Amino acid sequence: MAILTRQVLADQANRLAKLHKKCFADSWEAKYFRELLSNKAVQALAQTEDDRDTGIALLQTIARETEILTFGIVPSHRAKGLGYKLLQACVDHVLAAGVRSMFLEVSGNNKAAQNLYFGFGFEHIGTRKEYYADRSDAMICRLSL
Ligand SMILES: CC(C)(COP(=O)(O)OP(=O)(O)OC[C@H]1O[C@@H](n2cnc3c(N)ncnc32)[C@H](O)[C@@H]1OP(=O)(O)O)[C@@H](O)C(=O)NCCC(=O)NCCS
Repeated sequence: MAILTRQVLADQANRLAKLHKKCFADSWEAKYFRELLSNKAVQALAQTEDDRDTGIALLQTIARETEILTFGIVPSHRAKGLGYKLLQACVDHVLAAGVRSMFLEVSGNNKAAQNLYFGFGFEHIGTRKEYYADRSDAMICRLSL
């Protein structure tokens, strides 16, 4: 069982959109991935287990700070440690580029993601009240590398 995380370029936008759709009810179209990845600051990572896509992360790096724009594991592979592995792969990827901090936003209602991020070492540094469509708060989190 080989779990690998590799960078994916804009020419694989369809693959990223398919993967994103498996992870999120509110999914992003391939066109949106193409637009995002036309920005050199944005990079996509895809996690595979035995060549099957299991996870996606989109990272934006500006001035030694990386923001995680999206992050998900396909439902069939959750709660097996793959989220933790993908997060570690994101850190390894940006450390090589000299990044010192990572940021992300997570819904106050998303306990699974909060447990993953806080268990990994992210700290809650601020809140955007009723930021999401369901009126849940966005918790702004930072990890110092
Ligand atoms: C959040 C998400 C990425 C977690 O991925 P995962 O592969 O299931 O996470 P892991 O198996 O690596 O678990 C890591 C830690 O997260 C926590 N966790 C994971 N799933 C959980 C759940 N359903 N309930 C509570 N805690 C959970 C646990 O603390 C776990 O640590 P442990 O193994 O010591 O118990 C996944 O549930 C997901 O893709 N959800 C839908 C998309 C999403 O919400 N993305 C985040 C947006 S900010």
